[in-house]
Amino acid sequence: MNRIPAVEKIVKKPFEDKTGLKILVVDDSKSIRLTLEEGLSMEGYLVLTAKNGKMALERIHDNRPDLILSDVYMPEMDGLELCAILHGDPLYSDIPFVVMSTENDAANMRHMMRFGAAAFIIKPFNIEQLMMTLNKICSYEFLLLLKEKERLDAEQKLLIAGITSLVQALEARDKYTRGHSERVSLILSGLVKRLGGTQYDIDRAQIAGRLHDIGKIGIRDNVLLKTERLNYDEFEHIQQHPFIGASIIKTIPSIADILPVVFSHHERMDGNGYPQGLKGDSIPLWARMTAVADTYDALTSDRPYRKGMSHDKALSVVNSASGTQLCPDSVLLFFEWFEYEKPDIIGIYG
Ligand SMILES: [Fe+2]
Repeated sequence: MNRIPAVEKIVKKPFEDKTGLKILVVDDSKSIRLTLEEGLSMEGYLVLTAKNGKMALERIHDNRPDLILSDVYMPEMDGLELCAILHGDPLYSDIPFVVMSTENDAANMRHMMRFGAAAFIIKPFNIEQLMMTLNKICSYEFLLLLKEKERLDAEQKLLIAGITSLVQALEARDKYTRGHSERVSLILSGLVKRLGGTQYDIDRAQIAGRLHDIGKIGIRDNVLLKTERLNYDEFEHIQQHPFIGASIIKTIPSIADILPVVFSHHERMDGNGYPQGLKGDSIPLWARMTAVADTYDALTSDRPYRKGMSHDKALSVVNSASGTQLCPDSVLLFFEWFEYEKPDIIGIYG
């Protein structure tokens, strides 16, 4: 990822000379767009405007800005989604992103900072306050901070990629589980999207799905790869994988939010699951959704003792487990999601 060129372009410019620096103002309020356009133009910036994230993406594509100043809540595409899309795109991740929001929107702003936002400014603000923020972003110290943040982001991405490779290597040893976590990841992120999750949530769900069985790294081969029925001791051993997974995830603060999926995806609605025997809604929602994805994938995958079920048969088994093993809301969501995504998903299962 290369954030530096755009930032350096800003830093190299003396503060009194903003000629040629382009700022994209993204806000659904016409009066805010006009006020900022006027104020920033008077300070020497070139100002582009967009009334939502979707329009901003089109503008960025045609006329790349040096800095983005964005509202959070906007119709069609909000600031959170815009920030996440840009941060995930190597072409645009280096454009400093400044969030404009209100005092009581701290949670969203924290989200956006984690997703690449460089700074935020609290509404209402005047043009002098905004200039102070922009000058701060143009300072050398801020550049260093951005570089450090970028380094940490890159490091965390590498770490997640490394763990994902470990899971894939683990699954590759056993042809019956090959690709399982990737498919669970696909389903879980699809369900989160269907629930109306932001791009940030969808990306987290993707990581959660990929890593939900990370704890199996600590399970002995003779148990993990056993093709016959597990005995009591072996079953006890494999039940350790949520604990092992949680202890691995806990060491990586940036993915601590996926811990509930790793720890609780084998809980059952009737309380007969593991590791805690949680019941009903006390099981974290994403863990309940993962359980549905996990069950469907297990049913449709081949096992040493049986062929994988057909899609329709697996759906009927999932349906019959609703309320006892699986969360009824999550099952319903899964059915709805399948109804809409069927053409793409069926291909994955061949
Ligand atoms: Fe598992």
